[in-house]
Amino acid sequence: MKRIPMARPSWDDEMRAAAMDTLDSLYWVKGPQGKAFGSEFSQYCGAVQGTPCQSGSVALWGALRLLGIGPGDEVLVPSLTYIATATCVSLVGATAIFVDVEPDHWCVDLVSLEAARTPQTKAVIAVHLFGQMCDDALVDWCNQHDIAYIEDAAQAHGAASSAGVKAGGVGDVACFSFFPSKNLAVGGEGGMMMTRREDLAARMDALVNHGRDARLESHELGSNLRMSEVSAAIGRVQLQRLEGWLARRRAIAQRYHEAFSSLSGLSVPTVRNGTQHAWHQYCLLADDPKHLREVLDKAGVDSRIYYATPCHRQQVYANHPQHEEIFPVTDDIAQRLVAIPVHHQMTDGEVDRVIKAVQASIHS
Ligand SMILES: Cc1ncc(COP(=O)(O)O)c(C=O)c1O
Repeated sequence: MKRIPMARPSWDDEMRAAAMDTLDSLYWVKGPQGKAFGSEFSQYCGAVQGTPCQSGSVALWGALRLLGIGPGDEVLVPSLTYIATATCVSLVGATAIFVDVEPDHWCVDLVSLEAARTPQTKAVIAVHLFGQMCDDALVDWCNQHDIAYIEDAAQAHGAASSAGVKAGGVGDVACFSFFPSKNLAVGGEGGMMMTRREDLAARMDALVNHGRDARLESHELGSNLRMSEVSAAIGRVQLQRLEGWLARRRAIAQRYHEAFSSLSGLSVPTVRNGTQHAWHQYCLLADDPKHLREVLDKAGVDSRIYYATPCHRQQVYANHPQHEEIFPVTDDIAQRLVAIPVHHQMTDGEVDRVIKAVQASIHS
């Protein structure tokens, strides 16, 4: 029996042809594919411009540079996230201030944000965790306090807010990752910075190109962070498939919801009212996560735990003043969370197998 993996990148003839055509064109960097990918994906998200780059981590670094954030500034970040959300802040010399997440939706919590706000707070990096959109009220809160809103949309391609705005079109700058396991991938490493602000758009393009212009004049600190043309060409084809893939993820999540809602010892993820979840991950909270994972493993189903060591407790932040701080919600979720496969390539038979295995874990 074949194992069911957590993710399976999509690769088809059209993507292969797009990659080969791009190589054959000898236009390997700084060409039409990157421009088209940035413009098509930002249009899809309802933003003004997208700038492809080498990874989601680089996009986050770039977002902070664009907004002029550096030493002496504080940036609020959830601790329940991938480490890149926090380290980008440290890499620009600013201070990451960790906050707790919402008990029901697991995104950054407004009450915790307000408690952590100081005159030095320049931005919040709001993570649409696992594909769940952050609270729309965050936009007003940021505007009210003149705090920049950076979306970490690395896991949220195609998610939409209750106002119908897609991830990427909500904040000042949004950052996507195209790592192979993500909802949209580019055949290698990749990311994108996106903005709905005209005043940031031109600088965003320059930033991934040493902050320079066509005459080789550098106007601000940047680097070579550009995405290759082959990756952009693959990403463009994947973008055409995205809505169909999301529909499949949503259908699988719905089946899981129906099958698991009434099981004792487990709780299912709740979707924020009126929003469209992108289901990058489907995560259960289990009373006995070790047992659940053992049963899944025996049934040939992969699973993952996220984020067992929240960012502020990671060794990289051993000297951070919040290293020992207790975040009740984050700490609780970190100990109980088990992600199960929800990717769009799963067959109905595979979905059945996952359901049976999770149900069996409750009865065994
Ligand atoms: C929430 C979040 N932020 C940032 C990143 C960083 O993206 P990348 O791996 O492309 O650098 C990831 C990737 O896993 C992520 O999940």
